[in-house]
Amino acid sequence: MSPPVILSARGLARHYAGPAGLVRALDGISLDIQAGELVGIFGPSGSGKSTFLMLAGLLETPSAGEVWLAGERVSQPGTDLDRLREVRRQKIGFVFQKANLIPFLTAAENVALSLELVDVAPAPVLAHGCRLLAALDLSHRADSLPARLSGGEQQRVAVARALANSPPLILADEPTAALDSVRGRQVMQLFRRIAASRGTAVAVVTHDTRSADLFDRRVHLEDGRLATRRQE
Ligand SMILES: Nc1ncnc2c1ncn2[C@@H]1O[C@H](COP(=O)(O)OP(=O)(O)OP(=O)(O)O)[C@@H](O)[C@H]1O
Ligand SMILES: [Mg+2]
Repeated sequence: MSPPVILSARGLARHYAGPAGLVRALDGISLDIQAGELVGIFGPSGSGKSTFLMLAGLLETPSAGEVWLAGERVSQPGTDLDRLREVRRQKIGFVFQKANLIPFLTAAENVALSLELVDVAPAPVLAHGCRLLAALDLSHRADSLPARLSGGEQQRVAVARALANSPPLILADEPTAALDSVRGRQVMQLFRRIAASRGTAVAVVTHDTRSADLFDRRVHLEDGRLATRRQE
């Protein structure tokens, strides 16, 4: 039996009114990502990669098409995404190019914060943050402030933060763009491990072809569409 489909994008389109007419940022993308699958999304600048993640991540509504999460239709044109905040919180973890950790909280507190949006993280939540960091080989950094961490470590803390709620889906937009190739590969390997060991569906937008071997599948966007033949 194949693993369940976690993310199903069906004919997703997003059009913007630009000064020179309609911009078809996304022009009908259908893509399924299964539990445990690590999918790399490649494509030139402006091809619609970030737009795809915004729609799949329920941060924007599509102009056409639907987003299904774990067998449930959650987003289509006109959906009130504010009402999906809870779905987003429970089902989707985000990682962006910059870690954006809170500078005056320790690594463990940053992770815990995404579980409990409170000023002082209560002990069990903090312990969970520490466990997550340990699972990502960062226990020695749990009590460090972000400024004391390398860029790669910060980004791994951001990955731990995205995992805090054990979401079935992780979406990452150029998570290694600010890292050197060694640290970039470590972060990509982390996604690989997370997908394999936790059964998380992971979609990573990247220009980094050096880590292309780590993906189960690579898709290529061009002008807002899936280019079927070409792979990085
Ligand atoms: N809010 C918006 N309003 C108008 N046009 C937009 C908007 N957001 C994106 N676009 C346009 O949609 C297209 C796709 O943008 P998108 O950011 O998804 O590309 P990308 O593949 O992520 O590029 P990059 O690799 O540079 O990050 C671009 O032409 C962009 O200018
Ligand atoms: Mg982008």
